[in-house]
Amino acid sequence: MATIELLVTDVRYLKQIKTRLEQENAFVKPIASENGHKVVKTRLAKNDEVVEELLSQYGDALCVRLSNEAGDTGEKQKDRLSRFAQIFLQNNGTPTEEIAVLLEHLPLRYSLYEPVVLFNNSVERTFLHESWKMALSKSANAGFMRQMLGELFPQYTHVATNQPIVDYDEMRRPFHIVSLEGTLFEGVIRPQVQNQPSKQDFDASVWCHVVQNGIHQVWSPVFTMFSRGNIKEKKRILDPTAYIDVEGNDAVDLYAGIGYFTLSYLKREARRVFCFELNPWSTEGLQRGVVLNQFQGQCHVFQESNEHCLERLANFQNLRVRHINLGLLPSSLQGYPWALEIAQKYGAMPVTTLHVHENIHINDITSGQFVRDTLNALHGIKPEFLYVLAHLEKVKTFAPDVWHCVLDIDVTWKT
Ligand SMILES: C[S@@+](CC[C@H](N)C(=O)[O-])C[C@H]1O[C@@H](n2cnc3c(N)ncnc32)[C@H](O)[C@@H]1O
Repeated sequence: MATIELLVTDVRYLKQIKTRLEQENAFVKPIASENGHKVVKTRLAKNDEVVEELLSQYGDALCVRLSNEAGDTGEKQKDRLSRFAQIFLQNNGTPTEEIAVLLEHLPLRYSLYEPVVLFNNSVERTFLHESWKMALSKSANAGFMRQMLGELFPQYTHVATNQPIVDYDEMRRPFHIVSLEGTLFEGVIRPQVQNQPSKQDFDASVWCHVVQNGIHQVWSPVFTMFSRGNIKEKKRILDPTAYIDVEGNDAVDLYAGIGYFTLSYLKREARRVFCFELNPWSTEGLQRGVVLNQFQGQCHVFQESNEHCLERLANFQNLRVRHINLGLLPSSLQGYPWALEIAQKYGAMPVTTLHVHENIHINDITSGQFVRDTLNALHGIKPEFLYVLAHLEKVKTFAPDVWHCVLDIDVTWKT
């Protein structure tokens, strides 16, 4: 895999960038100097979402280029995890050839979601590879994960490995998380537990916690997905030049999840955010996040389909909905009619902005086809409004040539 190097032109950000790479186990020593810039080697591919995230965060202070050492898997690249695995296996008397095979299939990337170390998977590099399954099933290796936690991640108690979210689940739940150390949920995961969890069920789960952009987010890794790639869009909500008039106004999040976007609106001092979310585990995470963050604004959480939004909003006075978030992938088409009803009945004057998320093929972005289709679809639902594309944001790549995009569409009354 060709990896990239980061040319850091503003050294004030060097430490933060290094720390972020270390969190992803993607930092490669040493940092070099070149023409007054710092060169930071990484284990990241060019299209990695962490590269996107860094560029969105430090764009002006950063350039990306392909590494000269692409493909070098020599001693230099060996990281702490490989070293730990090698020594552990050697001490257990594992034959050298077997160790070599295991190191070839060792996952190199992980996310730190307190208290869980969550490993990434690729076909070749995963703890779910047959070689690792065999090795870990041997009694001599039973303590591998525990010792790894103790030596490399002393603040963490659980190890798990993730696989991509399946396409067919509208609640986008992490069906493929596999626990490797520690119990993520004490009990049997019956449909009742998924769909109507009790307080005991909530207590039986591990709850992960991360802070992004100074915002606490909480979720159960067994029942709710967490995508760190959305950080770019979360940051955009925090930017008053991108999302205007959030302060003191109301917002509606039609697919609220654990509050990826809701919490950013609240940080921006939205007066009230109205959240609709089907998954009870996500609403529980959202409520826990709201408690931890202690923002001033109110967060009203409805654990039900957004189809009920009009009845719910009718119970509130003096609504002034300035932003409506439609954050469902691969498409939030289902929410268009509801968003427009809200804009019509409760929209802020003179404009309400819709933030429409969708996975779009690059050809449909460049040809403008997706924008045309979306504006036409909205016009078909409520022709009495004027729809203007204010911005198209490419958030992250979802698949080759497919981008998770957000369209900001200003909705105003026709005069
Ligand atoms: C992309 S995910 C969530 C992203 C979200 N913003 C977050 O913080 O997790 C979309 C969410 O929409 C929810 N959802 C899907 N259809 C829905 C509907 N008709 N009404 C309310 N929520 C819905 C899913 O359960 C899922 O949590």
